[in-house]
Amino acid sequence: MFGFGQLIDILKKDPKKIVFTEGSDPRILEAASRLLAGYFLHPILVGSEEEIAQAAEDAGFNIRGAEIIDPKKYQDMDAMVDMFCELRKSKGVTPDQAREALSQANNFGTMLVKMGLADALLGGATYSTADTVRPALQLIKTKPGNSIVSSCFILVRPSATGENSVLAMGDCAININPTEDQLVEIAGETAKCAKIFGVDPQIAFLSYSTWGSGEGEVVDKMRNAAEKAKAKYPDIPIDGELQFDAAVDPRVARTKCPESTVAGHANTFIFPDISAGNIGYKIAQRLGHFEAYGPILLGLNAPINDLSRGCNASEVYSMAIITAAIANI
Ligand SMILES: CC(C)(COP(=O)(O)OP(=O)(O)OC[C@H]1O[C@@H](n2cnc3c(N)ncnc32)[C@H](O)[C@@H]1OP(=O)(O)O)[C@@H](O)C(=O)NCCC(=O)NCCS
Repeated sequence: MFGFGQLIDILKKDPKKIVFTEGSDPRILEAASRLLAGYFLHPILVGSEEEIAQAAEDAGFNIRGAEIIDPKKYQDMDAMVDMFCELRKSKGVTPDQAREALSQANNFGTMLVKMGLADALLGGATYSTADTVRPALQLIKTKPGNSIVSSCFILVRPSATGENSVLAMGDCAININPTEDQLVEIAGETAKCAKIFGVDPQIAFLSYSTWGSGEGEVVDKMRNAAEKAKAKYPDIPIDGELQFDAAVDPRVARTKCPESTVAGHANTFIFPDISAGNIGYKIAQRLGHFEAYGPILLGLNAPINDLSRGCNASEVYSMAIITAAIANI
């Protein structure tokens, strides 16, 4: 069963460096001070040294030992500019354009990871998802064998008995309207991520229809994607298209699709598009009282994640651990 202790143990064996692109944000400073006290994940704060020191003092957080890197004073900027131009060669990026882009913390921080100066990155406390994710898509790119970067959320509902409910949902944050083949890839990546959090994935491709009860293009998309996913991942229980009630409620499953081996106890949910996914995980979080961890980016060639702008320091701390620990798996 998922517990942060396991992820921290992974990092204790092999401590990592994580870049925070919004180095002077009080939530980042609080999370950084907690990480520094733990000695398993070393924070690199991007921003002006004076501003960060002042912000830490104002907020009352001890960040002694954190590495602070100011893009304006960065010694190896010429080498970074060269590499940036090389990576964006196909777009004809000039050194001046690269220098301008690298004056921004999101691009600069991503290049620290690309150049191997940091292991992971967490941004998005003030940047939008698009502005955090775009540099990763452009500079880090997809892992070999993957065609897209996607994302999932891990939802955890703690219980008094210690038997937490853990679910995975994808893609709630990146691909706006994935194709059938992209949904298959999203399902495979979400299942891999679910396993890291102790879930034995049982995947439901969700729709407003269960086994042909409704009609429409999106119904066909989800049914076809489920069929393709079954063929591609024969070892994972998969079904679709399923309505959410049939996916999770054994009584409804017995009525709507009695022969399904997944319906009634699915724990890994693939949504037809980002609207359904984003709304779905937030309903689970706000009304179902699940803790939501993510979006966890999947298929990217380095561990980089995006925070919600509404996040608190505790979420920053958790996401930093998740981001860096997954780098080791
Ligand atoms: C992810 C996202 C930001 C990319 O948007 P974008 O930057 O406008 O996308 P573009 O089409 O201009 O692509 C930019 C680059 O990223 C690449 N890219 C875009 N989507 C990609 C994906 N899913 N996987 C891999 N690469 C992708 C493009 O190929 C392009 O690369 P290039 O510059 O080397 O040619 C966009 O899909 C998005 O806004 N998604 C929703 C984000 C959101 O609001 N989520 C809700 C809150 S959590």
